[in-house]
Amino acid sequence: MTAFVRNVWYMAAWADEIAGEALFSRTLLGKPWLIWRKADGTYAMIADRCPHRFVPLSMGKRVGDTVQCRYHGLGFDGTGACVHSPFPGDPPAHVSAPAMPIVEKHRGLWFWPGDPALANSAKIPDFSFLDEDRGMRCGHLTIEGNYELITDNLMDLTHAEFLHVESFGVNGSIFHGEQTVRHDEDGAIWNNWDMTAVEPPEWSKAMLQPGDKVDQWLHMRWHAPAAMALTVGLARAGTQRASLILPPMINPHIITPETATSSHYFYDHEDNDAAAEMARQVFVDEDEPMIEAAQRALGAQDFWDARPAILKTDAGAIRARRALMQLRSAEAAVAA
Ligand code: FES
Ligand SMILES: [Fe+2]
Repeated sequence: MTAFVRNVWYMAAWADEIAGEALFSRTLLGKPWLIWRKADGTYAMIADRCPHRFVPLSMGKRVGDTVQCRYHGLGFDGTGACVHSPFPGDPPAHVSAPAMPIVEKHRGLWFWPGDPALANSAKIPDFSFLDEDRGMRCGHLTIEGNYELITDNLMDLTHAEFLHVESFGVNGSIFHGEQTVRHDEDGAIWNNWDMTAVEPPEWSKAMLQPGDKVDQWLHMRWHAPAAMALTVGLARAGTQRASLILPPMINPHIITPETATSSHYFYDHEDNDAAAEMARQVFVDEDEPMIEAAQRALGAQDFWDARPAILKTDAGAIRARRALMQLRSAEAAVAA
């Protein structure tokens, strides 16, 4: 299995998943991690595995900003250092749990599994649209598929014409669209679809007159390892996008490996039950079974060893895969 890229920010959770003083456990990059919010509002992230007899520290309890193991009472701070022993004398200096830098930004908690000296929160991809009060509800689900299979899914939205016909009511307009792929200096890769004077999608027809045509755009932005944002725009045809049918919508699609063959998916939707049901239908009923079927078909085989057929429409997805391969080989070269 391919190694995970280390020197990059990954999203661990939405900040509001960690309630109050809770000890929050989640498997990330193949290992269980423990996250908690400290009294000053910053976060700590250490291995959810006591270095003494390996039980999850999340079975223990908070003591101020530290966590105490439920088995023999050792206490650990947010750096993973053992700072408390129930016996007289100093806590054992040779005992510690691995820790990672973790910061809150754009409503998410981001961790850095690489060299802590290189962790610079300014490098977290720009999801500042999440900071605005847009009346959105954040969601999380897990998918039994490698995270790059989910990048393939999101960076190639032509699948919507087949997989999301029921939910989105798309109608073939992407086949009349123009695809452009762009690589920005900050490492962002864009896979953009721009459709001119096409039949409007079913969901927008109530806002239009019969026979109206629209310009529609679907712009997907990717940052390593798999942090994506999709902008969807819809305007009356022939207005150079000046006459918007509704303001462009932008949503996060942020993927973090749970293991090599399963992934966390962080998304959002409008804060109402109908939108929650729509998101469930799209992600759980439609995308998830397809990604999981691809993972089952691939099994332990490497993606490239399986010799995937590459289509022109895969251009953005393949660029993202190549960018990750370059990051991986650069890290392997430094390690060697
Ligand atoms: S297992 Fe945690 S203190 Fe012994
Ligand atoms: Fe999809």
